[in-house]
Amino acid sequence: MKTPPSRTLFLSGMDVKLYPDPESASIAAAMLIEQVIVDARAKRGKAVLGLATGSTPRRVYAHLVARHRAGELSFRDVSTYNLDEYYPIAANDPLSYHTYMYDNLFKFIDLAPERAHLLDGTISEGLAGAHAGLFERSIEADGGLDAQLLGIGRNGHIGFNEPSDLTPEAAIKLGTRLVELHPTTRSDAAAEFGSVERVIPRALTLGIATILSARSIIMLATGPHKAEAVAGALLGPATAQLPASLLSYAAARTTWLIDHAAARGLE
Ligand code: GLP
Repeated sequence: MKTPPSRTLFLSGMDVKLYPDPESASIAAAMLIEQVIVDARAKRGKAVLGLATGSTPRRVYAHLVARHRAGELSFRDVSTYNLDEYYPIAANDPLSYHTYMYDNLFKFIDLAPERAHLLDGTISEGLAGAHAGLFERSIEADGGLDAQLLGIGRNGHIGFNEPSDLTPEAAIKLGTRLVELHPTTRSDAAAEFGSVERVIPRALTLGIATILSARSIIMLATGPHKAEAVAGALLGPATAQLPASLLSYAAARTTWLIDHAAARGLE
């Protein structure tokens, strides 16, 4: 059921909508995505979505699946591109983002398999750069992303674009590439992998430049553990130390959907 935001803020040039709980924030995200599909279909005859993984978007996908099951939403003319994937990892590994997307969304909807694009965790290291470039060119050839759904890491990462010492000007030019995971990211993934030592320490990620080029960006953040990163990104300066703060470079196209727990630091 749809809940209107309990508060709307405008921070660092971005629309920020606060919701009482993760469920209502997730429904809002699903509704925005559905609207993007409807609008893009009307304008261009297709929609191109950038999708995220992690625990946060699970509810969003559950709502999109429910809309599909109700006969209200088709993905026949939709293409999807995922933000990231561990490296190296086989697509059929239970911990891969390929498996996550299949289990949470793809197996339930009418998206054609050839339209669901993920970075390939099995590519040889020597070809990773070429593979990343090809992924970006596929997005461009598809007309660019109509929407990019994002979550935020506790350290402010987006995709697997981790905190760095780059200048903001250099960080916003980062392309799709192979990266090392930050210690915070590894420790947050420890439960899933069984221990921090078992977490695959590298990943392929869409670059910040590609994320920022999406025609709309939907950032969903829920839970008290995200409050510090959310406050830093929305109240602080744009810095590569907190990659989500760089979304202010696409401020007019970015919407933050946050539950009260994650918004705690904004008061
Ligand atoms: C993960 C993913 C990100 C995700 C973030 C938050 O490691 N690579 O794309 O947005 O970290 O994850 P969660 O939603 O589980 O908190």
